[in-house]
Amino acid sequence: MTRSPNPYQDDRGNKDRSITRAGGAGLDFPERGGSALPDPGGPFLAAEAMTGGYGAADILHDCTLRVEKGQIAVIVGPNGAGKSTAMKAVFGMLKLRGGHVTLDGEDITALSPQDRVAKGMGFVPQVANVFPSMSVEENLEMGAFLRRDDFRTTMEQVFDLFPILRDKRRQAAGELSGGQRQQVAVGRALMTQPKLLMLDEPTAGVSPIVMDELFDRIIEVARTGISILMVEQNARQALEIADQGYVLVQGANRYTDTGAALLADPDVRRTFLGG
Ligand SMILES: Nc1ncnc2c1ncn2[C@@H]1O[C@H](COP(=O)(O)OP(=O)(O)OP(=O)(O)O)[C@@H](O)[C@H]1O
Ligand SMILES: [Mg+2]
Repeated sequence: MTRSPNPYQDDRGNKDRSITRAGGAGLDFPERGGSALPDPGGPFLAAEAMTGGYGAADILHDCTLRVEKGQIAVIVGPNGAGKSTAMKAVFGMLKLRGGHVTLDGEDITALSPQDRVAKGMGFVPQVANVFPSMSVEENLEMGAFLRRDDFRTTMEQVFDLFPILRDKRRQAAGELSGGQRQQVAVGRALMTQPKLLMLDEPTAGVSPIVMDELFDRIIEVARTGISILMVEQNARQALEIADQGYVLVQGANRYTDTGAALLADPDVRRTFLGG
């Protein structure tokens, strides 16, 4: 992917301003400075050579995933490839037999998921990612449970990013549309003010228009300096917004390159993107 020195003028995402709203998200987290080139200090997240599974048999085999600060990394691959398992491993929900995970240079391999949240990881799992009987606002408050400070400002930032949630703040999350529920799930993860946001199939079951909209919001989040690690079934569209792409097959890295390079690779296109 060609990188523009201006992070606000990159070639990611939907350019229809009626959808992306001029002026940006209003998330006033610190913005990333300078270029989107790899940090000489190493990637913000480095999950190196992860090997492990749920029982005796390994699902992941030497799986490596890296995300630079403020960039979007996308994992694609067939059903059962181990994409969700890799996300769980990064988040500390899976005991690894081999490999290690570092966040901002710190080895966090031994930390629990709760401790990883405290270190700046936010995770939106593939299933059961909202509390359906709780209101939108209560779901967001649940996201802030680790915080001891005033989280009202962050909630306002989430509402600025997803204005429909402000309108529906008193409504039960279970009554919302699929796309709105995914917004609640992403918003809840943002309530912990993560430095790395991990999303497992955030656009599952939503229409193409809602998918585009959600991807645009994810780009806005990345522009504030938050790193994104995302699993996606909508491989082609997701690689279009990806700085870095990973094709996983049977728990192992099959192809790793920039999103643009993977989209242009004839083998990747034929085998994983439907031609
Ligand atoms: N909790 C579990 N216990 C045992 N095996 C599991 C568990 N979760 C997943 N698996 C197995 O691990 C393998 C990888 O599953 P995983 O859910 O990581 O794949 P995936 O790439 O996320 O698939 P999908 O695209 O369907 O979401 C599969 O063979 C699956 O059956
Ligand atoms: Mg999965």
